[in-house]
Amino acid sequence: MPGAAGEQSVSIRLIVNERRHQLDVGAGETLLSMLRERLSLLGPKEACCEGECGACTVLMDGAPVASCILAAGSTNGRTVLTVEGLAGTGELTALQQAFVNHAAVQCGYCTPGVLMVLTALLEDTPDPSEADVRRALAGTICRCTGYQQIVEAALDAAQLMIRAATS
Ligand code: FES
Ligand code: FES
Repeated sequence: MPGAAGEQSVSIRLIVNERRHQLDVGAGETLLSMLRERLSLLGPKEACCEGECGACTVLMDGAPVASCILAAGSTNGRTVLTVEGLAGTGELTALQQAFVNHAAVQCGYCTPGVLMVLTALLEDTPDPSEADVRRALAGTICRCTGYQQIVEAALDAAQLMIRAATS
């Protein structure tokens, strides 16, 4: 079947931010372009488009992926979470609030990807060390903050979440 740009297309079903979608995607279409151009989810950012900077990071089945180098067609049956889905209840997550408290957002271009990477970290490692946080951030580039506020926000969020879970 020809796609919108005259290329082959494939029909996929996936869940994005808890909503089910069925889409015909082109063979050359990336997950990033599908999210931004078809689903109007502009949180994941387009920057290097080479899988190097992390600005486009989303979670797929709970794990961070660079959506700029992932074929949309490969997401059939998967569950995707973008930064828009973090505050699904309308309230900031503990991590998002910690970013505000620690001024961990400056220009904000890296922030959606950084939040997704750290969300996955805190899910897998609820009480991370500073080294754990810095290791998780290794695939993201922030040109503004020097990372220190981001690291402090992640460690603070972890402690807030631990306290909330045990109170
Ligand atoms: Fe995807 Fe840079 S835009 S890693
Ligand atoms: Fe500007 Fe990170 S806040 S690139």
